[in-house]
Amino acid sequence: MSLLKIHHYPDPVLKKVAAPVTEFDEDLRQLAYDMAETMYAAPGVGLAAPQVGISKRLAVIDCSSRDEEAQLLIMINPEIIDSEGESCEEEGCLSVPEYYAKVDRSASVKVRFQDLDEKTRIIEAQGLTAIACQHEIDHLDGILFVDHLSPLKRSLFRKKWKKIQEHMTEQM
Ligand code: NI
Repeated sequence: MSLLKIHHYPDPVLKKVAAPVTEFDEDLRQLAYDMAETMYAAPGVGLAAPQVGISKRLAVIDCSSRDEEAQLLIMINPEIIDSEGESCEEEGCLSVPEYYAKVDRSASVKVRFQDLDEKTRIIEAQGLTAIACQHEIDHLDGILFVDHLSPLKRSLFRKKWKKIQEHMTEQM
């Protein structure tokens, strides 16, 4: 297992629509586990393959709380097939470190995806897991959470992001 490099906004790989996974082989399994390790180390609750520079429809999610057992979800070619309700929670993203904003989402979603054995699975998610599913599937379509902000908030984000980046460069 190894930690992968996380690509930051505005890396062009984050804007690309990712390609469907067609080969369910050992490389895919390795990538999924490396992504999970990278997510836990960050730490984060979700990570999509484009964030590690790989434009494929694969994401990992684990929204279990610290005192719970890990609940790793590995989603390949995920699709939202149903959604209900509204939610507006503060989100962050490992590709946009140190920036957080409220995003309008559905409160619950039904997601169809394939697992590492190419088996189709359907889950119904609520709460933080529902938000993470929508956030990660957005990544596979080249959409970041900041793309959901109003034009005013986005321009404020760009200004703030410049400062965050300067700050990160100083630390290196
Ligand atoms: Ni993200």
